[in-house]
Amino acid sequence: MATSLVGLVGWRGMVGSVLMERMQQEGDFALIEPLFFSTSNAGGKAPAQAKNEVVLQNAADVDALKRCEVIVTAQGGDYTKQVYPQLRAAGWNGYWIDAAKTLRMQDDAVIILDPVNLPVIRNALGSGVRNYIGGNCTVSCMLMGVGALFKTDLVEWMSCTTYQAASGGGAKHMRELLTQYGTLNAEVRSLLDDPAAAILEIDRKIIDKQRALGEGETVNFGVPLGGSLIPWIDSDRGDGTSLEEWKGSAETNKVLGRGPGFGSAAIPVDSLCVRVGAMRCHSQALTVKLKRDVPLADIEQLIANDNPWVKLVPNTREASMRQLTPVAVTGTMAIPVGRLRKMAFGSQYLGAFTVGDQLLWGAAEPLRRMLRLLLEH
Ligand code: HSE
Repeated sequence: MATSLVGLVGWRGMVGSVLMERMQQEGDFALIEPLFFSTSNAGGKAPAQAKNEVVLQNAADVDALKRCEVIVTAQGGDYTKQVYPQLRAAGWNGYWIDAAKTLRMQDDAVIILDPVNLPVIRNALGSGVRNYIGGNCTVSCMLMGVGALFKTDLVEWMSCTTYQAASGGGAKHMRELLTQYGTLNAEVRSLLDDPAAAILEIDRKIIDKQRALGEGETVNFGVPLGGSLIPWIDSDRGDGTSLEEWKGSAETNKVLGRGPGFGSAAIPVDSLCVRVGAMRCHSQALTVKLKRDVPLADIEQLIANDNPWVKLVPNTREASMRQLTPVAVTGTMAIPVGRLRKMAFGSQYLGAFTVGDQLLWGAAEPLRRMLRLLLEH
């Protein structure tokens, strides 16, 4: 595709800002004519990356959107729900690249994570698919780390326990977590300054404060997260699982081009998803039942050689503490995989731990890479 008019929607939000930063770093704007849309400031000035189209367009204006050959949106699911059907109904036949979950599981949409599923994407491009949707952050980060095991058909089943950061909820959730930490610290600051103060008194004051946090400080998470955790993410499906846990299975298989929709058996993946007080990286403990007993050294090689971003972390205390944490990984493209070992259950049971930046590989990066694929197409 030659240089095209690419509509950008939701570029000012959290995922959108990370996307803009990455597009800037990688020189993507040199390859496109960007057309910036806004839901609140149409007629205003487009950002510095604009070239000939310097006026912000109305993101609800179907005629303006129809001008674009490609639309990239990080505006969120409500926007997609509202605008996407109108655009298609108006006869728009362009490429829709979206971070939101709305269209992800539709038959006419592909979940994009090209280091893992480039063949699936190329196949879809070849057969005229027009909707390319970023996957759930946890699924994308997990597959960037251990995708090699699926590509080599080694996985009989996988169980994931996730440790998901506040950023998965959005900007307001990150702020709320920090506000809670501040409130808790303030509650006991004088006692912390006094080395002789009794720890049980500090502990009691903290739990009293956590339990007394008002709606103003818990409106986003619903309950305190600072100094606690929440073993439920997203809605309740009524069958004992959360929507986030369902995505772990449904989306993993769809990314890989597996499951009934593809004429093959789905690989069983089951998860327990937990929100923790990290800021912006999703971590996961994985248990994999392998189809064959493959030596650990071979598994390490497979994982390490799978893509340029995966980073094998030696299974030692020092390396795990330094390299396998949200603090180490935030803001980087690296996907470390560590704690790799055969488990006590038997030589076909593999344990692993992986961390990924929820806003990079988990959200923004697959979108800009899909745009590149389209431009090369
Ligand atoms: N659902 C994820 C979370 C983020 O809440 O952490 C978006 O994929």
